Amino acid sequence: MMTSFLSRRSLIASLLASTALPSVAFAQAAAPQPIISDWPRRQPVFATGGMVASQEALATRIGAEVLEQGGNAVDAAVAVAFALAVTLPRAGNIGGGGFMIVHRADHGQTKAIDFRETAPASMKKDVYLNEKGEADLNRSQNTGLGVGIPGTVAGMALALEKYGSGKYTLARLLSPAIQLAADGFLVGDDLAFSLKQAETRLRRFEASARIFLTADGAALPRGANLQQVDLARSLSAIAADGPKAFYEGPIAEKMVASVNAAGGNWTLADLKNYRAVERDVVKGAYRGHEIVSMPPPSSGGVHLIQILNILEGFDLKAAGQNSADSIHLFAEASKLAYADRSEYLGDPDFVQVPVRGLTSKKYAETLRAQIDPAKARPGPTIKPGKPQPFESDQTTHFSVIDKDGNAVACTYTLNFSYGVGMVADGTGILMNNELDDFAAKPGVPNAYGLVGGDANAPGAGKRPLSSMSPTIVFKDGKPFLVTGSPGGSRIITTVLQVLMNVIDHGMNVAEATEAVRVHHQWLPDELRVERGLSADTIRLLRARGHKVEIRQAMGSTQSILLTKQGFEGASDLRQAGTLTAGVR
Ligand code: DON
Repeated sequence: MMTSFLSRRSLIASLLASTALPSVAFAQAAAPQPIISDWPRRQPVFATGGMVASQEALATRIGAEVLEQGGNAVDAAVAVAFALAVTLPRAGNIGGGGFMIVHRADHGQTKAIDFRETAPASMKKDVYLNEKGEADLNRSQNTGLGVGIPGTVAGMALALEKYGSGKYTLARLLSPAIQLAADGFLVGDDLAFSLKQAETRLRRFEASARIFLTADGAALPRGANLQQVDLARSLSAIAADGPKAFYEGPIAEKMVASVNAAGGNWTLADLKNYRAVERDVVKGAYRGHEIVSMPPPSSGGVHLIQILNILEGFDLKAAGQNSADSIHLFAEASKLAYADRSEYLGDPDFVQVPVRGLTSKKYAETLRAQIDPAKARPGPTIKPGKPQPFESDQTTHFSVIDKDGNAVACTYTLNFSYGVGMVADGTGILMNNELDDFAAKPGVPNAYGLVGGDANAPGAGKRPLSSMSPTIVFKDGKPFLVTGSPGGSRIITTVLQVLMNVIDHGMNVAEATEAVRVHHQWLPDELRVERGLSADTIRLLRARGHKVEIRQAMGSTQSILLTKQGFEGASDLRQAGTLTAGVR
């Protein structure tokens, strides 16, 4: 199973020795190319032959190697996704799900692949209510009842089959991940930190503890070797027999047994019936750019476009990046959009989502008119709006582009860091707790403080509403910016700020990434800001009535910008171990 792909180039050996592959230009070696800003404080990585930006360096290098060998962006993305399932176990996964936006340069087509988890057939609307009818979030966050039927394996297989170059089999793209899982790799700062934080959750499950904790039950420390032999075996089975090996047979049986032992209610049919689906992207326009992003069951694309539509009527450039004026407008626009999210968004296979209404310029005008440039509107006074009638009818992101201009933006997740904390016994596969993204009860906030109602109520076979926003911005019909981020409810505003920093404020992609982030999601009624915003700005915002809270860093964007000269990429420095790699 350890295929020619690896043995030919001894890829893993060079990866583990941390030596840069000769043909790949990495961040440290990249020549600074100040394309947009005159005097940037941070330089992006520059390359002309393709680029991968991901949250974990080994996975990035594996993707860059695929590009370098002539694979296209989708081939590379599939290899990155499987590698992250091994090297970034808190979010990379095969036991979770997500979304991918794929642009094929030859067809000029952009499509969305939805590999979001589904609720099992047994799911009832009141599953997360206790005997008193109150929401019991322990059920969705910490037990088998929160685990959705995973979509990643089906999603990657679908992406490869439809949009891969045809030069790579699934098995070949799995091989670096298999080898990393079998041999193990060095636990670095980021992994050690995340394991420490998740230690108690992981300790609850023997199968998780065996892999991620030491014999005395402590998180594996920095410098340890993380070996995942069972995971290597599961990945090898998928390499040999395709997705069927995951959705049927021994692996499926083991997942069902573990989830049900933890209080879930899965059957083998739930896994066998899982399908990744292709959907039409949502599109919008912002100051001469076309915004292409994820449709429902993610709320990401819809609200990204809705907020941009509202903001297009204000001169943000003149207001200045991260000035009190522009943060105020951004917060007010975000509140209105998040209020609509709570009412209208859900799985489009079950509820009618007014996508066109919510993303229309006309509706944005009515919302814009409600914004007072001088005063914050208290969240509780805002109610969901009335878009045009219904038309008839710890997460991680990576971005990839190849030399031909094919592009992939992919965000996928287990929901919490390490999901529900449970490895399905004997598989090495960490299971998600994605079903916490349902609205357990109307008006009761989920783990990200998001509220919702009937549109996002739990239901058999339903996909819970997401905020994940893999996005490709086009200019003159060609990809201009490929981006996305983790961060729960903060994903939408994080991605928006990267877009505005580039489009409105002319920052290069590294500066756009580094800039201090802010966030408002209507409820709770607070304006979250990262450290680094000036005291003056905070004072001005408070004077307008905002409840400003300085909180932890938000998001981990992985972005690639296309310039006339080539690709410029930036991996967020908010988390350790990220890497953007360019191909010459
Ligand atoms: O789909 C969603 O919106 C959430 N499950 C994403 C979770 C997330 O981003 C956690 N990472 N920081």
